[in-house]
Amino acid sequence: MEKKDRRIIKHPILPDMIEGKKVTIYYNDMPIEAIEGEPIAAALMNANVRAFRETAKRHEPRGIFCAIGRCTDCMMIVNGKPNTRTCVTYVEGGMRVQSQDGFGVNREVRK
Ligand code: FES
Repeated sequence: MEKKDRRIIKHPILPDMIEGKKVTIYYNDMPIEAIEGEPIAAALMNANVRAFRETAKRHEPRGIFCAIGRCTDCMMIVNGKPNTRTCVTYVEGGMRVQSQDGFGVNREVRK
């Protein structure tokens, strides 16, 4: 089965999406296809990733909420840097993006 692209290519109000260079980024060590310059969150949504982090106390999943860099629900560890807002951080080829648990200690690291 062919993978569906979930990006909005044509929109009734916004200009058409400009085709960009396809690159690979790594989400929890899994390679995913992304477009250079798009928000990391957009690449993850296109790869069907919905939970980006877990809350500190209850370990509840969080993902995209505001999509403008205000709410912190999309924070992840990007290239080793915790608390990175992935809705306003843009894709570069080879980036390493990890789910964040609480205040920024990756589950794999905390063990
Ligand atoms: S979704 Fe709210 S800061 Fe990114």
